[in-house]
Amino acid sequence: MAERERPAFAEMVESLPDPVLVVAAQDPDDSAGRRLVFANAAARELLRIQAQGGPLVSAIRHPRVLEAVDESLFGGANGEAAWETGGAQDRFWRVLTRPLETAPDGARLALVVLRDETDSRRNERMRADFLANASHELRTPLASLTGFIETLRGHARDDAVARERFLGVMAAQAARMARLIDDLMSLSRIELNEHIAPEGRLDVVLVVLDVIDALAPLAAERGVKLSPKLVERGVATITGDRDQILQVAQNLIDNAAKYSPAGGVVEIEVKAGLTAEAAIAVSRPGAARLSLLSPDLVGGERFVALKVTDHGPGIAREHLPRLSERFYRVEGQKSGERLGTGLGLAIVKHIINRHRGGLAIESVEGQGTTFTAYLPQL
Ligand SMILES: Nc1ncnc2c1ncn2[C@@H]1O[C@H](COP(=O)(O)OP(=O)(O)OP(=O)(O)O)[C@@H](O)[C@H]1O
Ligand SMILES: [Mg+2]
Repeated sequence: MAERERPAFAEMVESLPDPVLVVAAQDPDDSAGRRLVFANAAARELLRIQAQGGPLVSAIRHPRVLEAVDESLFGGANGEAAWETGGAQDRFWRVLTRPLETAPDGARLALVVLRDETDSRRNERMRADFLANASHELRTPLASLTGFIETLRGHARDDAVARERFLGVMAAQAARMARLIDDLMSLSRIELNEHIAPEGRLDVVLVVLDVIDALAPLAAERGVKLSPKLVERGVATITGDRDQILQVAQNLIDNAAKYSPAGGVVEIEVKAGLTAEAAIAVSRPGAARLSLLSPDLVGGERFVALKVTDHGPGIAREHLPRLSERFYRVEGQKSGERLGTGLGLAIVKHIINRHRGGLAIESVEGQGTTFTAYLPQL
């Protein structure tokens, strides 16, 4: 790069996206005497600094940050502090301080850089929450198993009838643990390759027919009728991972059947050649609506939509945004004897995200719910 073309250092620092400050001070005992002799644009905006040269404490009062600054000003050492800005947009900053060369007038100088660590903090917290939730979900059936083992060793030892009944419950709890672990593993596998575009070809209609066959006995047991309305074979062909799309259809249809009243009908519709708008067009007038996931559109895309409609209890508006959170279940909702894991819709959302598709939900309390998964038709 030619000398003339090199941007001025001042301009470079001014344009840095991270807030950068320079603090000057003469006397370690004069805490009001630490002055902000430089603040770049990001720092001025964050700390609402109007003029250079003002006191540091009018911008930052947090004691640990001030200590770190002092360490660089008077201790000649690097300092570091965590700083959380409260208020509506709570942010978490890592403050790094470095000593600079003393100014010609004898003032001590320190460089202060603020690094926004809000996102990584949030991710950390989410991971910790997830682990706590997963452990709790596994702990519950395990506690019940342990309890029954105690009972079988104790007073139920010679009671053949009780033994049979307890073993039945234990088998169900063990199955629940297995289902949880399967779902957790499935979720982590999906997350691992979420950024890799799927490659296979599949006909959504054939996948849905397979799922209907697989779920028919379960639905029949509950007296629920699965009623498909599908486009012709070959029309709804997309690029995607067949097993994953099967999981999407399986989860949505299973939920609809699970939350249907006895004798209810689940309508399963597959359409093709739709615009994104047409894919999420209102199918239940007056319903609470929410898009849980929207695809990035460049224009001209066509989608295959899978719509699953039930006539069950519906879902109150306030629950809609949280439905695809891991382990989230609507309180007090009856799903029959087969208690869910609350991971189904989280899995659905990640799979659809990998396929660059969308997921929308419409629900009327007391009347039922429609889930629409739509996938780009490439
Ligand atoms: N069709 C539906 N009607 C009413 N509520 C539903 C419906 N689908 C999902 N929900 C609510 O959303 C929650 C989350 O669904 P999700 O599929 O993630 O978990 P689940 O069905 O409890 O468990 P799993 O699918 O793993 O067996 C459910 O517990 C239920 O409260
Ligand atoms: Mg489910």
